[in-house]
Amino acid sequence: MHAPLPDGGLVRKLWVGETDAYRDHLLRLDHDSRHTRFSGAVSNEVVVRHAATAGDIGVVVHGFFVDGILRGTGELRRVGSMFSGEGEAAFSIEKPWQSHGVGTVLLERTLLSARNRGIRSLHMHCLADNRRMQQLARKVDAGLSFDFGSVVGEVDPPRYTPLSLLREALTDGHSFVSAAFDVQSRLFKAA
Ligand SMILES: CC(C)(COP(=O)(O)OP(=O)(O)OC[C@H]1O[C@@H](n2cnc3c(N)ncnc32)[C@H](O)[C@@H]1OP(=O)(O)O)[C@@H](O)C(=O)NCCC(=O)NCCS
Repeated sequence: MHAPLPDGGLVRKLWVGETDAYRDHLLRLDHDSRHTRFSGAVSNEVVVRHAATAGDIGVVVHGFFVDGILRGTGELRRVGSMFSGEGEAAFSIEKPWQSHGVGTVLLERTLLSARNRGIRSLHMHCLADNRRMQQLARKVDAGLSFDFGSVVGEVDPPRYTPLSLLREALTDGHSFVSAAFDVQSRLFKAA
């Protein structure tokens, strides 16, 4: 499960203080993508309030960056107490980067994070006619139990293991180094 990313793209967790980048990305979504992301029509104010919670405890957002700009996200949110074992996931990719495998990478990372946080039941709010999201959810290697007649899908990632914890730590470390090089090379180009 290692889908390649579009050229120049980088996936990493959002850092503390990047809620503004998350807000700007969500506000840039075209009308249809915003509608499917939030399972309905939502105002700019709702989007802004939602983005501001990205740094809350129990929320992990993976971002897809191109030239330092956030163009896609996979959001994992624990539901209920620390021990509930339940979470929600939602994905958003700006139109020009859709259907290039970005959603696949973000879903893989989100599933690994869910698994490592003991989340065993992951709800994905997905409109019944969202074929792309359904196709994406079907192809990942996880126990899937989707009911697309309703608007909620459910994924049961297997339990975490020392190896899965290591995989997330290594991925974070690698992403950090890549992001640092990315910033450096953009500074170099600008100079
Ligand atoms: C849904 C979304 C997250 C998927 O991400 P993506 O990067 O576009 O998806 P991928 O490129 O990884 O492709 C996922 C699968 O969908 C398939 N697909 C692409 N476009 C499709 C379409 N129009 N109809 C059906 N399937 C489609 C791809 O072929 C791929 O399957 P494959 O690898 O077996 O061929 C993204 O399109 C998006 O942000 N849409 C708007 C918001 C949204 O719908 N969010 C989901 C609800 S939370």
